[in-house]
Amino acid sequence: MAGRIPPEFIDDLLARTDIVDLIGTRIQLRKAGKDFQARCPFHDEKTPSFTVSPDKQFYHCFGCGAHGTAIGFLMEYDHLAFREAVDELARHAGLEVPSDGEVVRTGPDHGPLFELMRQAADFYRQQLREPAQAARAVEYLKERGFTGEMAARFEIGFAPARGDPLLNRFGTSAATIGRLLDCGLIAEQDGRRYDRFRDRVMFPIRDRRGRIIGFGGRILGDGKPKYLNSPETPIFHKGRELYGLFEAGQANRKLASLVVVEGYLDVIALAQFGITNAVATLGTATTLEHLHQLLRSVPDLVFCFDGDRAGRDAAWKALETALPLATGHQSMRFLFLPDGEDPDTLVRKEGAEGFSARLAKARSLSDFLFEHLSDQVDMTSLDGRARIAHLAKPLIERLPQGLYRDLVLKRVADLTGLASQPPARQVRAKRRGGAPGRPMRLSLVAQSIALLLDHPRLVSELESVEDDWRRLPNPGIDILARLLDSLRESPDMTKAMLLERWREHPHFSYLRRLSVDPFLRDVSAEGAPAELAGALSRLSAEAREMEWRRPLNKRSTTEWTEEDRALLAERDAESSRTRRDDAL
Ligand code: CTP
Ligand code: MN
Repeated sequence: MAGRIPPEFIDDLLARTDIVDLIGTRIQLRKAGKDFQARCPFHDEKTPSFTVSPDKQFYHCFGCGAHGTAIGFLMEYDHLAFREAVDELARHAGLEVPSDGEVVRTGPDHGPLFELMRQAADFYRQQLREPAQAARAVEYLKERGFTGEMAARFEIGFAPARGDPLLNRFGTSAATIGRLLDCGLIAEQDGRRYDRFRDRVMFPIRDRRGRIIGFGGRILGDGKPKYLNSPETPIFHKGRELYGLFEAGQANRKLASLVVVEGYLDVIALAQFGITNAVATLGTATTLEHLHQLLRSVPDLVFCFDGDRAGRDAAWKALETALPLATGHQSMRFLFLPDGEDPDTLVRKEGAEGFSARLAKARSLSDFLFEHLSDQVDMTSLDGRARIAHLAKPLIERLPQGLYRDLVLKRVADLTGLASQPPARQVRAKRRGGAPGRPMRLSLVAQSIALLLDHPRLVSELESVEDDWRRLPNPGIDILARLLDSLRESPDMTKAMLLERWREHPHFSYLRRLSVDPFLRDVSAEGAPAELAGALSRLSAEAREMEWRRPLNKRSTTEWTEEDRALLAERDAESSRTRRDDAL
């Protein structure tokens, strides 16, 4: 992981990025006044309420409330992590991403490790062609029905049974031995070093760019452990990688869907039968990182599991992981295979058509969800059906807000005969801390923050506004002050730049929400300066009044000082004077 990205770089990046271009390459935008509009990509709608502002470099959907900067859009729409979104924008802008001052791209240079893995893969592959060494391995693969074409496409190899050929060949210096250890190609025990993989069929694991990052090694026949895999290394993280993703991309110019299976050999068998879009997790459960990676690649995922108990449990775990990403825009489906079969055995029995027919009938995420819950209750009783609602609630709460979630809620309601409350309103009511339809007013501080975030240029019109508000102890005052100060320093910041400066801050999501608060809808661009100046001067008056009153409040406490007493005496004199003036 690279170090922190300096905020100036993010400013620069956003200055060189046009959010209209960025979003325009992904969805069709239409000009509407000085902004652009489209049907929202984050929820289903008939009339466009998704707005992109070139001025603010910000998008906002008035329908579902989605909003953010160019970086935020890439994170949501392309399912990228923050760092990946920055990398992507930087690539477009022709910038190199620095980390904390120095111009370093991605931390230590792993080039030599990738190179070594490539050499090892070539070595294993060559060994598979040595009859003296690998006759049994070739025989095993043939017996299992794999073709030479697949062996070539997946670069299958063989690790010889005897000696430490890798160590002897590549470990010629302390540095190269170090690298072999770093890559997990050799291991060390009691000071003795040896090749990790011996007498195994070798499956190289490639990253999305085709670089070899690890190996899975299968024993010939029935011994244990069946597989030996590369350990976690600087370039190999099991929870992130998918076997076959690179190969699937090579075989398909445009991937429309991916099938997630469990084993290396499932991926290869499916490919051999023409189903070239299968990938496998590496003996781990499906992680959120896997899902991000997959959904970034295709709009349709089919998870393939064994029909047995373990397969069902694994599927349910995958569903739970997938919930926060289920928007309904991309489909995630579940396929259960007959007991005792895996994709490898099944495709050999039923051929590609048979297997594809099963894929086409895979259950939707919500079908699987309800089926699973229904299994746990007695659906014929009223109690049982009410329990479904209870069981579904925490799951539905993990779905992102939007039409899909509403649909699932409706389904619960239909199933149980209980009415559901639309979730959007529920949440708003909770957030506002009041009853629905009676929104709580924002505090003056929050209003000021919202105004500044939405109209950063306002800062130039605030020269003559008093500063007394800065002394208030109210929550948010420090944020308001920091916002104003950073804008005074760089008055040309857009809304997007301003917000991105706060991404690491614990209140980032609060600020983001404030920046699109409905309160802003009632404030026109022309009216905004007066609105903000008004808020700040009322806050300043509040600060002065508070200070004026402070000695009074403290009179009964031990904190009461001589200075306070003098101040109070002066104030008292002053106010009796004004009261007298008033009377005149
Ligand atoms: N796996 C592993 N270590 C094991 C067993 C399994 O890492 N000891 C991982 C491998 O990635 C394997 C996957 O889990 O591909 C699925 O396991 P399994 O279905 O048992 O293996 P297959 O790939 O189907 O291999 P085979 O058909 O030869 O049994
Ligand atoms: Mn298998």
